[in-house]
Amino acid sequence: MEQMTTKIHALLHGGDYNPDQWLHYPDILTRDVELMKAAGCNAMSIGIFAWATLEPEEGKYNFAWLDQVINHLYANGIYTVLATPSAARPAWMAEKYPEVLRVNADNRRILFSARHNHCYSSPIYRDKVRAINTALAERYAHHPAVIMWHISNEYGGACYCDLCKENFRKWLQKKYGTLEALNHAWWSYFWSKNFMSWDQINPPMDNGEHDLQGLILDWKRFVTDMTVDFMKAEVEPLKKINPDLPVTTNMMGFYDGLNYFKFKDVCDVISWDNYPDWHRDDDTELAIDTAMTHDLMRSIKPGHPFLMMESCPGAVNWKEYAKVKRPGMHELSSLQAVARGSDSVQYFQWRKGRGGSEKFHGAVVGHIGSDDTREFRQVAALGARMKGLSRLTGSPFESKAALIVDTENRWAIDALQGLIKKDKGFLKEVRKHYAPLFRAGVNTDLIDEESDFSRYKLLVAPMLYMLRAGVAEKLKAYVENGGTLVMTYWSGIVNDTDLCYLGGFPGDGLDKLCGVAQEEIDTLYPQDSNRASVVSAPETAGFAESYEIKDYQEVIHPTTAKVLAYYQNDYTAGMPAFTVNHCGKGKVYYIAAAFEEDFYTALYGNLIRENGLRSLDVELPTGVYMSERMCEDNVACYILQNYNTEDKTISLPREMTFLETGEKLTSFTLPAYGTTFLI
Ligand code: GLA
Ligand code: ZN
Repeated sequence: MEQMTTKIHALLHGGDYNPDQWLHYPDILTRDVELMKAAGCNAMSIGIFAWATLEPEEGKYNFAWLDQVINHLYANGIYTVLATPSAARPAWMAEKYPEVLRVNADNRRILFSARHNHCYSSPIYRDKVRAINTALAERYAHHPAVIMWHISNEYGGACYCDLCKENFRKWLQKKYGTLEALNHAWWSYFWSKNFMSWDQINPPMDNGEHDLQGLILDWKRFVTDMTVDFMKAEVEPLKKINPDLPVTTNMMGFYDGLNYFKFKDVCDVISWDNYPDWHRDDDTELAIDTAMTHDLMRSIKPGHPFLMMESCPGAVNWKEYAKVKRPGMHELSSLQAVARGSDSVQYFQWRKGRGGSEKFHGAVVGHIGSDDTREFRQVAALGARMKGLSRLTGSPFESKAALIVDTENRWAIDALQGLIKKDKGFLKEVRKHYAPLFRAGVNTDLIDEESDFSRYKLLVAPMLYMLRAGVAEKLKAYVENGGTLVMTYWSGIVNDTDLCYLGGFPGDGLDKLCGVAQEEIDTLYPQDSNRASVVSAPETAGFAESYEIKDYQEVIHPTTAKVLAYYQNDYTAGMPAFTVNHCGKGKVYYIAAAFEEDFYTALYGNLIRENGLRSLDVELPTGVYMSERMCEDNVACYILQNYNTEDKTISLPREMTFLETGEKLTSFTLPAYGTTFLI
């Protein structure tokens, strides 16, 4: 078992707590603790934006209020996830040292304002952060109540100041050594963009270069590296004082400003903030997207539990429509995090502020200040239920299937000119592969190109456009050793700096692995479609006769691959659309077009069976989803959730036990929005 903290053997329940905003209201602070106990909370994240209260004057710290809060909570059985305050700085600092403020892509330095807008390069900002983090660590790193560091908040964005530009140039010099190498890697010869001195290079800015894909990609990599470096600088003084206190930083799912996979070593624990649009469209479909996002976050450290650091018990006030969660949805969506491997349900926010832009954001406690509200009652009910789930604490989430959803590949696909201009459809394609695995209850990871492939039986690489150095060899070894690989159209097109592979796609030897050569890709207008007819073969058992194709179709020539489907119409009629190639002990499927969803359901139905990817053979009604976590003593816990607004009956393949009640059953009714834990 892999508990994140040894201080408490329970799933964490609580959230962002801002006592620094309520220091003039001592009664409310006292009442908060009573309410937290009533809500079954055991962990609060404190001090996230509290720098102005912690250090009201340069070098003069004020920890008295924090001491009191942490101690009072602890005396009442509530632990602290203690934040470093770098996500918002005090006004005195911005006034005295303007370099701490970020310069935007329009080349203008911002005025003191908002949050999440500091410069990551500024030596002064780094000094100030180090000083306050050291002071916090000296005071609290060994405090029995403090279970984890919450580093900053939602790192994101970029700074374009002169210091950052200079750091970018140094980063490029280190990477490329010579301008000749850089110009080649970026193909700067195009439109005479050849750089003749390092100083000529700027980040992609509003009034500057925008079309050099190599530059865009390297800038994004640099921003990630700078942010990781900044986080390391934040963590260093904390670990110096207590190396055992774990650190995390709250991430934002599919946010693409950073490559989160580069944070895996600096974070002891992965955590993220989850704000889906429940009740907007079909929740049984949205549940697939939220599960996929949990899976992406968890897979930064595959197998390990993560934390849902923020979620909203009510209406999210920054959304297009600030809709309240309908009864039952709070429990369902919160337990989905647990079902996907989270060891927590944490909220933004504990209490609605009296002022500020988030005063109408959902919270456990509203302005009425009472426990007699629907929002409070549903949180308290969940808190009570979570106490009975402590057996899940630290239980790993193991997957036998994985999708490669590489952030750098996503950046490269977004930056290229071609295909469908507005949205190239990468995440749409990813979801088509994810959904049938998810619907079948197969635990699936969403990994990146640098991850270890060998732990999976099934590996899916949708639109692997950017085939980074060494990845083709890894895929080859994976297949030769018996793995099943699914590849799609638009794969193996460019290298790390967006230079096309010469001599045939998919490049870098992947053409041999797939047994096909790609000749061209055709983008279909929205009103166009094609179809492919399926060949009868063992691999296509259970497939329909034909499937619709939209968006993309490739012309491919099989070399060693066996054709499993042919295009029916258009100029591609009679050409292969889907193939399989055997290599060593494994095989590779190549899907040359964007098929309709049923095609993927049929394909994965077979691959799931063939690879034994389901460990509980239970028939799941539409909108009922299942996952598996491994509890103590290697006991598998199956978590079933019903996203329908009606009850569903489930028949089990054998007698099983309800984890929470000990009751034994072979069939049961899962109520609308209900969740059950079975062992
Ligand atoms: C983010 C932030 C929080 C808060 C919430 C509101 O996730 O981290 O501070 O602003 O959004 O939903
Ligand atoms: Zn800067």
